Amino acid sequence: MNVRDLIAKAEKRHVLERDEITVLLQGGDWDEELFAAADRVRRRYVGDAVHLRGLIEFSNICRRNCLYCGLRRDNRHLLRYRMDEDTIISLAIRAKEMGYRTVVLQSGEDEYFNVDRMTRIIRRLKALDFAVTLSIGEKSYAEYAAYREAGADRYLLRIETTDAALYARLDPGMDLAERINCLHNLKRLGYEVGTGSLIGLPGQSLASLADDILFFQALDADMIGTGPFIPNPDTPLGDAAGGSFELSRRMVALVRLLLPDANIPATTAMETIHPEGRILALKSGANVVMPNITEGEYRRLYALYPGKACADETPAHCRSGIEGKIAAIGRFVGKDYGFRHRI
Ligand code: 5AD
Ligand code: SF4
Repeated sequence: MNVRDLIAKAEKRHVLERDEITVLLQGGDWDEELFAAADRVRRRYVGDAVHLRGLIEFSNICRRNCLYCGLRRDNRHLLRYRMDEDTIISLAIRAKEMGYRTVVLQSGEDEYFNVDRMTRIIRRLKALDFAVTLSIGEKSYAEYAAYREAGADRYLLRIETTDAALYARLDPGMDLAERINCLHNLKRLGYEVGTGSLIGLPGQSLASLADDILFFQALDADMIGTGPFIPNPDTPLGDAAGGSFELSRRMVALVRLLLPDANIPATTAMETIHPEGRILALKSGANVVMPNITEGEYRRLYALYPGKACADETPAHCRSGIEGKIAAIGRFVGKDYGFRHRI
């Protein structure tokens, strides 16, 4: 099949074979057609609303040691912090005033935030009428169940890569099968489940990115956040090449074509490596933005990778900047909770 036929097939039937995805990931003079097809599917399935989720990075302490990540436990160059409960809630109240209806609580795998503390925070956020998303890593089934019981609606846990050998190399002490098991547990508990992968990891092939997309389909992921790997000098991968913007954009488009009704964020990492990164992602299939609502020095200290977009701005500034750009491309900010609607 020629590439134009592949794009047409993906737009119409939302299925592609592994080799077909790989060809489209390679890129070529058909790229603009790929992005346009993804944009049409986005409009048909999820409409013109862009859902904003307020991101609170409440602890940068992590027991893991992922080779690509600035929060890895062996990184001694990072000042660590942990917000107290009231600080988290006051950030959420400010988010509410700015119009957010979802907060995303994100942290490293910080064991200080045990079931007791987390469930208390979740309940307080639910009392404020938020949709609550957690992004706090691998936990036991019982912990996931307790958070769900306390009211958590969604959970983000990127698979990072479905290439088992690459996963084992980059995430020492972690196991791909265990991560997949976590995602299945979250699904079983009725969370809306978000996953995604890093693009351009050293040794990652295009075929393996195609496998990632097939994995998202098989899992029936509700949200898929993908973005370029950005080398962090405070990590063992500081000198690696990093992912390209165009490949990341093709990935967003293919994810939209193959999971047409999913929620797909235009990620901060995309904005970090391209000045119009988020807008271009929104025009290539994405329909969600997660502005950072962490305040003050904490913003700088949640240093997954260098140069993070918006790191030196205030939450209000960051939000109004994004809202203006959304309006400028003829889209609007969603007023509801932005749950996935299956079609
Ligand atoms: N570049 C881009 N994204 C990164 N993450 C961690 N380190 C990096 C990096 N160097 C991503 C991981 C994780 C998410 C919270 O941040 O995919 O799931
Ligand atoms: Fe910790 Fe997540 Fe960073 Fe891995 S990617 S070191 S688990 S914060």
